This record gives sequence, structure tokens and C-alpha cells, in this order.
Amino acid sequence: MNPVVVERPGVVKLATLPPLALYIHIPWCVRKCPYCDFNSHERTGSLPETEYVQRLVLDLEDLLPSVWGRRLISVFIGGGTPSLFSPEAIDALLSAVRARLPLEPGAEITLEANPGTVEAARFRGFRDAGVNRISIGVQSFDDRRLAALGRIHSAHEARRAIDAALASFERVNVDLMYGLPGQDLAGAKSDLEQAIAAGAPHISAYQLTIEPNTAFFSKPPALPAHDACADMQVTIEQVLNERGFEHYETSAFARPGQRCRHNLNYWEFGDYLGIGAGAHGKVSFPDRVTRHERPKPPASYLKGEAMKETRVAPAELPFEFMLNALRLVEGFPSTLFQERTGLPLATISRSLKSGEEKGLLERDPRRIRPSAKGRRFLNDLLQEFLAS
Ligand SMILES: C[S@@+](CC[C@H](N)C(=O)[O-])C[C@H]1O[C@@H](n2cnc3c(N)ncnc32)[C@H](O)[C@@H]1O
Ligand code: SF4
Repeated sequence: MNPVVVERPGVVKLATLPPLALYIHIPWCVRKCPYCDFNSHERTGSLPETEYVQRLVLDLEDLLPSVWGRRLISVFIGGGTPSLFSPEAIDALLSAVRARLPLEPGAEITLEANPGTVEAARFRGFRDAGVNRISIGVQSFDDRRLAALGRIHSAHEARRAIDAALASFERVNVDLMYGLPGQDLAGAKSDLEQAIAAGAPHISAYQLTIEPNTAFFSKPPALPAHDACADMQVTIEQVLNERGFEHYETSAFARPGQRCRHNLNYWEFGDYLGIGAGAHGKVSFPDRVTRHERPKPPASYLKGEAMKETRVAPAELPFEFMLNALRLVEGFPSTLFQERTGLPLATISRSLKSGEEKGLLERDPRRIRPSAKGRRFLNDLLQEFLAS
């Protein structure tokens, strides 16, 4: 497979290469949710598991020359609904990955699961295949909200899935959404309380957004008012803080030791290989940062259509770095900017100063972080770095 290389001029100097992760995309779901704009497709008939795993392995082999001698710190099998794949297919996939690219000892390996597609034996199978972290898409514990979201599972099934996951895994994330059709503050709080009571040591809470090219975009449901959603967000942060969760990224909350290593690597502008339909990745070299992207439709992907590879223009790197790093509540060490972009921090001194003057950014000689206002108006803060 010959990549199409789109060259853009420019030079950067990276003294060290960032940590490397692997993202694996599985693009099928039982049913397409009306709010979802991920590259996910309703399954029709049986899944081409073997064929797809073979294609994933070819993808990985293609990328090996670009990461020679490096080790993986984490693997994330996302979707779509990866829990639709059998434990045997996940085992074959992870064995093939390990045989081609060494994993750091104790590397985090996450698999995304939909409560409508799992039970205890399946979780045990995933664990035996090497998965050590599960992320469950619960969204809500209210059956009326789940129906409005077109989910394939009930609240009862969601609770059972969490119990079954916790029986096999110490590291479990529960995805919740708030600002749902018909939801009020008490409802959002109750969802959160139930996720905590279920024992989830990591919770991701996303405000429902209406994305183009979704069923909700063409026929939008009535949503709670903007102020009501802002109140939900404040309440979610307060409650989780009181219950001992650390708020470490815009939407992510973890008990101590439970932060997601794989996602942290994105937010710290680390490198990652992307394999699977529509997956994209980022790979750094001493003199450049590149991105790669696979064809999105599963059929084109399975046919082996070429990936697209792009060199990131140095002028785009400050914004790309900040787009990720400013999501971190504690910000980042000042030295990380140069380490990951290969550009001196002076490149963005005007933007940093302006962000600080507007009260959106805080910094000391060692760290740069968004202020509380900057987190609330993250887009305004990011604008500062567009023209760096
Ligand atoms: C790719 S899904 C992974 C889990 C699995 N596919 C499922 O839905 O059960 C990742 C998460 O993104 C969130 N999400 C998806 N679409 C969203 C939207 N339009 N607005 C806010 N959050 C969304 C949901 O919480 C979802 O669980
Ligand atoms: S199950 Fe998850 S990935 Fe699939 S359509 Fe629904 S939200 Fe999207």
C-alpha cells in the first residue's frame, strides 16, 4: 500500500521523540445512535472479524518503519463498538500487535464496550486476551433518556455491565452524557450518583452536542437551555470533587491512579499510530511531525485503499499542541511545548501574554495552565494560538 504524501514546507527540531501509543478502530455497532458522528456503521449480518484483523495487522506493518526501535505505552481499541468482536479476535489482534511492536511493561490496553453487547464471560475473555481497562458507554441510568438517545440497552443492563466489568478489571471508565432531551439538573445529578454508586473509578462526562451529519442534526430534539447545561457541568464537577475524583481533563474524572494513560498521551501531544477504518495517527521525527489517516468507509478500508500522510506545517503546531494540552486542568510543564513541537517557547510568547492578560491563562516559570475562566471559554483561549 503506497501512502499519498502531501508535503508542506518547514523545519522543526525535536531533541527527543514523544511516547508512542496505538489506536485501533472497530467501525461497527448494533445500531447507529442518532447523536453519534463517529465513524460507526450499523452491522448487517456477521462481522468480517478475521478479514478485518488481517487488514489491521497489514496497517501496522506498513507503519513499522516510521517507529523503528520505539515501544508502545498504551493501546486503545475504540469504535464503534469493539465489544462486538469476539475475545478470540481481540486475542489474535493483540498477539499480532505484540509480535510486531514491543509494549512497555504494564502498558495500558483499553477496550470500549457497549452495555448491550457484553456479559461476564466476554469480559473475562477480553481480560485473558490482554485487555486491562474497559470503557463502558452508559450515557444515562434513566430508561427514558436512554430511549430518547436511541440506545440499545436499559439502565439495568448498564449496571450489570459495570458489575461484570469490575469483576474482571480494576480499571473501568463509565461514559455519561448530560444536557439530554428532557433532562433537568436533578436527573443529571442522579445519573452521576448512580455511576459513582456502581463503583466506576473513572467517569467521563460529556455534554450532548448536536453534530452535523447525524439524525439529531436533521431532526433536533428539544434540549435543556444553555444555562441549565452550564449548571449541570458545575454540579458534576462539584459532586465528583467531593467524592474523591480528580478532574484532570475537560470531561475526565478519575480516582487517584486511575487516569487514562492513552488519552493523556493525546492531550500531552504524544505520538500515536492509528489503524482501522478512518483511524488517524501522529508520528514525530527529529525534523518533522506527520499525520496519517485511513479511508473511512469499512468497505474501502477492507479493500486496502491507501492511507493519506501529511507533514504538519510548523505554523500549525502551536495551535495543534494547545488544542490538546489546554484541555488538561493542571496544564503542562513549560518545557513540554518545545519538547513536543520542536519549536522554541518564544514562538508563542505573544499569545501566552495575551491569554494571561485576558485572564484565560495562568503561568509560572514551570507550568502553563488554563484558568477557571479559560477552561469555561476554552475556544476563546485557543483562538489566541491560531495565528502564532
Ligand atoms: C465512540 S463512543 C464509545 C462507546 C460505545 N460506542 C457506546 O456508545 O457505548 C464514545 C463516547 O462519546 C460520547 N459521545 C458520542 N457522541 C456524542 C455527542 N454527540 N455528544 C457528546 N458525547 C458524545 C458518548 O459518551 C460515547 O460513549
Ligand atoms: S454505540 Fe457508540 S459508536 Fe456506536 S453509534 Fe452509538 S455512540 Fe456511536
